[in-house]
Amino acid sequence: MHELKNADQKYAQLDEFIDALPEKDGALIMTLHKAQEIFGYLPAEVQNHVAHKLQIPASKVYGVVTFYSFFTTKPKGRFKINVCMGTACFVRDSQKVLDEITKELQIKVGENTPDGLFSLDALRCVGACGLAPVISVNGKVYGRVKPEDVRNIVEEHMSMGGNDDE
Ligand code: FES
Repeated sequence: MHELKNADQKYAQLDEFIDALPEKDGALIMTLHKAQEIFGYLPAEVQNHVAHKLQIPASKVYGVVTFYSFFTTKPKGRFKINVCMGTACFVRDSQKVLDEITKELQIKVGENTPDGLFSLDALRCVGACGLAPVISVNGKVYGRVKPEDVRNIVEEHMSMGGNDDE
């Protein structure tokens, strides 16, 4: 019951955003960003709702969601770890850092830990090449990361538990 009310509130918040758009044409990406911010991810029901509200085909919404890597159709962990696999990071051994994270968390790229605390993704260049290799956790950037730093970074967030400042 509580969850339903919660979902209703989220849809109401999204509708408020869409209704306030000065122009609905060309507002799809902006709306999807807002929807992902509100819901955390973009399941089919949310995509259909956006399609209905913007009066565009659901297939168009789905096409955009699957085209851009910053949209996700699956829920992510409370702490979203992104490992940069762009050229500058790759040549500075970001693969080893990624391997260490998969070992530490026992998950692969694109997965969440069973407790929902962490999710892991690999990205292309995040624009901080001077700090390569780079990882980010909920947008906070860690530069010149070595495989042996991984455990500390993970533990730092585990100790934060539910108190991240997202
Ligand atoms: S390649 Fe990793 S930040 Fe640019």
